[in-house]
Amino acid sequence: MQTLVVDHPLVTHKLTVLRDRETGSPTFRKLADELVTLLAYEATRDIRVEPVDIHTPVAATTGVRLASPLPLVVPILRAGLGMLDGMMRLLPTAEVGFLGMVRNEETLEATTYAERLPADLSGRQCYVLDPMLATGGTLAAAIDFLVQRGADHITAVCLLAAPEGVAALETALAHIDVPVTIVTAAVDEQLNEKGYIVPGLGDAGDRLYG
Ligand code: PRP
Repeated sequence: MQTLVVDHPLVTHKLTVLRDRETGSPTFRKLADELVTLLAYEATRDIRVEPVDIHTPVAATTGVRLASPLPLVVPILRAGLGMLDGMMRLLPTAEVGFLGMVRNEETLEATTYAERLPADLSGRQCYVLDPMLATGGTLAAAIDFLVQRGADHITAVCLLAAPEGVAALETALAHIDVPVTIVTAAVDEQLNEKGYIVPGLGDAGDRLYG
């Protein structure tokens, strides 16, 4: 598993405003959307393309287009939904599948309450959207799900990650023979006893949707 922290002043600037407790939901939603587009640019660096012949108004030339099968974008409900538009801005032709997962705030165990994914993901590149990688339980379960369906390349886009969650995810995915990359705006200091990222930005779902 690879972890890519996107080091860019605009990413840090937008993340700083997201972290600020004075930032209300309308601004939070807008900035999360903008931040995802910046992260998506880095997250799609390995997206598969194939050559294509075209004619400009002046001459024939070759370029590339997205390879088939097209990538699948998977927002994890509910908070991942706030990242979908920002991702689709860069990948308008991608297919979208949904996973509904919730973390029990006492046990910190993740459970799946909704699943709407293609039955066969053989040969598909998948982009999972989840703002917070805290204990890593949610993302581990989601990635496991996609690999069982046949996905062969997985990138998770997270606004923030905790070092404990990154380490736990690496352990949880040790048995998986599929490349996994985590792209995030920051790996924070730690998790607190309630499983919140510190300093973090609070509960992303609540800050997006109340
Ligand atoms: C939050 C967050 C992640 C998950 C991260 O979702 O959006 O999905 O917790 O925690 P983990 O890494 O410890 O598993 P939550 O369960 O609060 O659901 P929500 O998106 O519906 O708010």
